[in-house]
Amino acid sequence: MTDDVRTRTGGASGIGPPLWLLAELTYRCPLQCPYCSNPLDFARYRDELDTDAWIDVMRQARAMGAVQLGFSGGEPLVRRDLETLVDEARRLGFYTNLITSGVGLDEARIAALREAGLDHIQISLQAADAEVAAAVAGSAKAHAGKMAMARAVKAAGYPMVLNVVLHRHNIDDIDRVIALCDDLGADVVELASCQYYGWAKLNRAGLLPSRTQVERAEEVARQWRERLAARGRDMRLLFVVPDYHAERPKACMGGWGAIFMTVAPDGSVLPCHSARELPMDFPDVRERALEDIWYASEAFNRFRGDAWMPEPCRGCSERHQDHGGCRCQAYLLTGDPAATDPVCSKSPRHELIVQALDESSADHREVEGLISRHARNSRILCRG
Ligand code: SF4
Ligand code: FES
Repeated sequence: MTDDVRTRTGGASGIGPPLWLLAELTYRCPLQCPYCSNPLDFARYRDELDTDAWIDVMRQARAMGAVQLGFSGGEPLVRRDLETLVDEARRLGFYTNLITSGVGLDEARIAALREAGLDHIQISLQAADAEVAAAVAGSAKAHAGKMAMARAVKAAGYPMVLNVVLHRHNIDDIDRVIALCDDLGADVVELASCQYYGWAKLNRAGLLPSRTQVERAEEVARQWRERLAARGRDMRLLFVVPDYHAERPKACMGGWGAIFMTVAPDGSVLPCHSARELPMDFPDVRERALEDIWYASEAFNRFRGDAWMPEPCRGCSERHQDHGGCRCQAYLLTGDPAATDPVCSKSPRHELIVQALDESSADHREVEGLISRHARNSRILCRG
């Protein structure tokens, strides 16, 4: 840390270094998932950091102590310099993870990424069959390609890590989704409930599963774990309960500005991938050093510690466990980024979650009613 930064942060202020760097290389993506976490106005961010700028970001982050590096997007494979960036990340000593839809991957590219030193690949699936997957992601061909690439990734010596975003249109099919992952030979399956940011928040009424759906899916996952264990099949099955169905909020990002740093395609530095939805200004890595941003920027210090917390968080014994929940969720639901996350049953605005769940019991079964992430929709939604 520079002396200047130490002075402004108070030196022994207790702020540790970032451990995780998420490099959102681009918001471009060939798919159009209606639950995409990219900002609604993603089409505005065309001016992406170039290769040298990303290498500089990685060097700065590594020098600060970051050890994990995730390449995501959008679809990071649309960046033709991905292998170059992976190569540099390996040279710097990062543990690297590629978070991809698998679209744009082929055997040659897997081999090149392996050669460059990529440690880990996570592929997302939309559904158990091509028809639902196509309706959700807007591509009829993607599903078959994902299957082939999941197998190719494993054949190249990586563990097969599959991520399935669950929502009301695929959660009742969870048995077939898990069976598909089992057939593919997956090593780890993350059944990740949709998080309601970005496009998913826009489409929440059409995506949020009912409590009955979630409870049933949890039970199916539990039964699968038992069957897998009985067969001696080593497939880790993770089921992430949706926030909206929990009593307490998640400790989002391990706390604001605690361990996690996202650099967006245009160089904005964010404490989480959704923060640009907040009514705040975020620093630009093209204008300011990463270390200065992390330790001294107003944005990163805004929700550190607990002095900013309102009641009931301020006097709550759980405040150091969940940090008052997610700032983005608090803002998207209440209009106040400093509010207690309404997911918490102690929140004075918890009725917002109850109402959303009541609405989700209404019949919104058609995938066609969802607004797809698409540059055209982005412009229409964000006009003015
Ligand atoms: Fe967490 Fe705040 Fe709820 Fe306490 S009141 S459990 S700190 S969100
Ligand atoms: Fe931004 Fe939780 S997603 S703080």
